[in-house]
Amino acid sequence: MKREMNLIILIIIVLVLMVGAFYFYNDDKNKTSQDAPIRGLAKENNSSTITTLPIPEILEDQNPDEKIAEYDLIAQKSTSVFVNDVETETYGYNGNYLGPVIKAKKGEEITVNIKNALGDEETTVHWHGLEVPGDVDGGPHQVIQPNESLQTTFTINQPAATLWYHPHPLHKTGKQVYKGLAGLLLIEDEVSDKLPIPKDYGRNDFPLVIQDRQLNQNGKLIYDLDMMDVMHGKHGDTPLVNGANDALLEVPKGKVRLRLLNGSNARTNRLHLKDELPFWQIGSDGGFLEKPVKLQELVLGASERAEVIVDFSSYKEGERIELFDQNVRLMTFVVGEELDKETEIPEQLTTIKTIKPEEATKSREFVLQGMGHMVNINGKQMDIHRIDEEVNLDETEIWEVSNPNGRMAMEHPFHVHGVQFQILERNGEEPPENERGWKDTVLLMPGENVKLIATFKHKGTFMYHCHILEHEDAGMMGQFQVD
Ligand code: C2O
Ligand code: CU
Ligand code: CU
Repeated sequence: MKREMNLIILIIIVLVLMVGAFYFYNDDKNKTSQDAPIRGLAKENNSSTITTLPIPEILEDQNPDEKIAEYDLIAQKSTSVFVNDVETETYGYNGNYLGPVIKAKKGEEITVNIKNALGDEETTVHWHGLEVPGDVDGGPHQVIQPNESLQTTFTINQPAATLWYHPHPLHKTGKQVYKGLAGLLLIEDEVSDKLPIPKDYGRNDFPLVIQDRQLNQNGKLIYDLDMMDVMHGKHGDTPLVNGANDALLEVPKGKVRLRLLNGSNARTNRLHLKDELPFWQIGSDGGFLEKPVKLQELVLGASERAEVIVDFSSYKEGERIELFDQNVRLMTFVVGEELDKETEIPEQLTTIKTIKPEEATKSREFVLQGMGHMVNINGKQMDIHRIDEEVNLDETEIWEVSNPNGRMAMEHPFHVHGVQFQILERNGEEPPENERGWKDTVLLMPGENVKLIATFKHKGTFMYHCHILEHEDAGMMGQFQVD
């Protein structure tokens, strides 16, 4: 009896592996049959079809009052062309794909009028990284029905940072982000204003929203999940930066600031430049690091951000420097003329008040586990009617997050709403230098554990979850209530 059971289990495992291998093989076939000829033809033989990198527009403030800003955002359906002139359905905020940049000042009160023009889908707009009360966080509780609008108001009360916004409807976030709904929210303050770093938006300060997408045989962007996607999250073989595949960006010969967002549904980016050109990371998710950190490779989990400065001054005009994710070229910088203004990479960027473990009144554990549809946190999957953790307002807590090693373990980027935290420890040690700033997402490879510390300054219901959107949608999410 026991031997028969073992045999059956073995057969099931073999079947599962065969189906997985089939999808894997099919994906590879797609790669060679559609993408290779498109890239070769369009980019090398015909210079008129070279794509220049789109730079998202800065959204116009509709309110003349200095201290109050008012913005209009419309989530809508449209079409875009990514490769080979094929038009495909995409979603965008106020446009075809992605959304405009919202620029905010610390201390400012902001009102956003959000309209859901997606036709037949509910949506929400979540402010990722923003420290605001739960009722304006834009999580799964603040649903905007089709053809409805929502007016949301909050005050910016955190340091200069590169944050972002994206939909967060319960179990349906993956598709909407994949189709194009995401935009940047940039906060500036007295520190960022004074630093002599590059800050001319569109001239020496550029946002790069990095994503990967899978176009089908007909060049269409369709969100369907095969078994590999259910396991590891949706990956694709077509990299996009600001919605463009393999584009060129002219940069001044000199120092250039890049605001990087890993806006992929699942992929972890391992970014590096041609010739392993070093660059300096000056900011993490929630703002400036105290000191620039010199790097040759930067790892960003899904939803993580980094601000970096690259110095192109040793290159000649016209030279090309590619940006890679592992061995895939994401885009190419072309060195142009020098700008008139001198910029620096200062030794000291800001000061960050470190939160001491002694300040914590409570510690909690979060265990990331399961696979496929069963991914969960502490053995539980998301239930919108259940509060998993109750946190006292204005108290400091330590959250110990672990991703236990196991046969099917995989990486998970763990994200917490409504706070910026500090990483006390990664695997029992001080975190790497570029993780010693404010963070709202932390990447855990299999077998890793981190200790986070945060002070919860806003009331309301908030989410914590894996930012692989297919894991989040499957239920790898929980809720905490701050009161
Ligand atoms: Cu980018 Cu729940 O968030
Ligand atoms: Cu968030
Ligand atoms: Cu995950």
